[in-house]
Amino acid sequence: MSDSPKLTRRPEWTALEDHRAEGDPHLRELFATDPGRAERYVVRVGDLRIDYSKHLITDETLALLQELATATDVFGLRDAMFRGERVNLTEDRAVLHTALRAPANAVVEVDGENVVPQVHAVLDRMSDFANRVRSGEWTGHTGKRIKNVVNIGIGGSDLGPAMAYEALRAYTARELTFRFVSNVDGADLHEAVRDLDPAETLFIVASKTFTTIETITNATSARTWLLDGPAGLRDDKAVAKHFVALSTNAEKVTDFGIDPDNMFEFWDWVGGRYSYDSAIGLSLMIAIGPDHFREMLDGFRIVDEHFQNASAEANAPLILGLLGIWYGNFHDAQSHAVLPYSHYLSKFTAYLQQLDMESNGKSVDRDGNPVEWQTGPVVWGTPGTNGQHAYYQLIHQGTKLIPADLIGFARPIDELSDELKAQQDLLMANLFAQGQALAFGKTAEEVRAEGVAEEQVAHRTFQGNHPTTTVLAKELTPSVLGQLVALYEHKVFVQGAIWHIDSFDQWGVELGKVLARRVEPALTEGADVPGLDSSTTALVAAYRELKEV
Ligand code: F6P
Repeated sequence: MSDSPKLTRRPEWTALEDHRAEGDPHLRELFATDPGRAERYVVRVGDLRIDYSKHLITDETLALLQELATATDVFGLRDAMFRGERVNLTEDRAVLHTALRAPANAVVEVDGENVVPQVHAVLDRMSDFANRVRSGEWTGHTGKRIKNVVNIGIGGSDLGPAMAYEALRAYTARELTFRFVSNVDGADLHEAVRDLDPAETLFIVASKTFTTIETITNATSARTWLLDGPAGLRDDKAVAKHFVALSTNAEKVTDFGIDPDNMFEFWDWVGGRYSYDSAIGLSLMIAIGPDHFREMLDGFRIVDEHFQNASAEANAPLILGLLGIWYGNFHDAQSHAVLPYSHYLSKFTAYLQQLDMESNGKSVDRDGNPVEWQTGPVVWGTPGTNGQHAYYQLIHQGTKLIPADLIGFARPIDELSDELKAQQDLLMANLFAQGQALAFGKTAEEVRAEGVAEEQVAHRTFQGNHPTTTVLAKELTPSVLGQLVALYEHKVFVQGAIWHIDSFDQWGVELGKVLARRVEPALTEGADVPGLDSSTTALVAAYRELKEV
């Protein structure tokens, strides 16, 4: 049991409460009275320029938040994580996704063993395999070249590679087709393979545990499609050329029928949602090539080193984590929007949902005591400018405080035509305009000055004072993507450390899995499920009736 004081009883916490009780100055006023604000509240890490000037903070707020970070020993836990200590308490595991991007000469020990050589050995095997697929040297069972790669996985074994594949499309081998199957809804696999030739298709079964029912079910169906489907290869030996596995569980991989030689390993100290820079990234590596994959790892490492070495005042993940605490714990903000102004980041927020919400969606602390403070926010959002024509209305004029991250790039990808490249300025003008409108709004006087009829003034007024962080980079390269992901990984870590929760377990997903297994026989066979509540019993009955009609 920890003997540290409860978070909300710490003097640093109550000092923040007192500070909050003084009320938030308006951003209009903060900028008007502090000409240096726009330059001062910027932190740079790698290629990222992170502007946090449009937050409801003053130097005093920041100092008080920093005191909370010091009191809760965020950096102490950070160092323990990087050292390979078992900071995932409930699973008794080290948390070392940072070792996945450590340089070959680094030493990171788990139980006295340096894990870096294993990491690089797997990276080398992945590189070799990826090159063979990309060059056509690795062929399918009938000797045909592999043209399609289908990743089957869910959660961290899907969202990371799928997100990064989209993000780095410009770097992908365009002649290859990549699909990502996750949902146990048969429609997902059906749509992914319906236009593919099994003889040209490689399945990558990605599962840390290799027990996840969605993945094993889809992988089994994929094997059936490969062997016995309309264009099936009708030879069990084909599996060896068309299935590879990414897992920590060699035994289950073998049980499934995949040759362990076709397995790319990772380790229990890599959490699922922190795993796409491990073997789980194989589909991505085939898509973008090993060199770009390694550039992405370098990007992760830039932010890892920054998080470890930058002073608290200049530490980007720390600052972003603290800002989230300020809103979630002292302003009752329930959610956090991530709004990338890049079509290539269309899956970025969905990826962050797992990273953040599975990590910090906890209601007991590291000692098992109920927390008496808010923990992780609801993370949501879609790329701008689409969201502007859907839900931004609520952010601007609704009743909720929704802090948001606006992410944008100065340069579009080279591949675009000149005409399409020119649209980048319009895209980014929208990003800047939103940050401005959210922060400064439009006063009733300004509306009146436009000659608006008095009965319309309230409707057309924007209160402003909606906080945003703007993350700007030159372009979305593999390294920049790695930097962005690591930035959020460590931000989530910072918040979990302050809330004194275990950010690395995910027991909350277990109950649903168990109940689904229990209920399934009732749906398929009409079996009696003892102890089923009356509502679910009625739903099951209605389902069976509809199914049979
Ligand atoms: O949803 C729970 C979870 O365990 C995630 O944490 C994980 O990313 C996902 O399931 C998939 O797990 P696996 O890689 O073991 O199939």
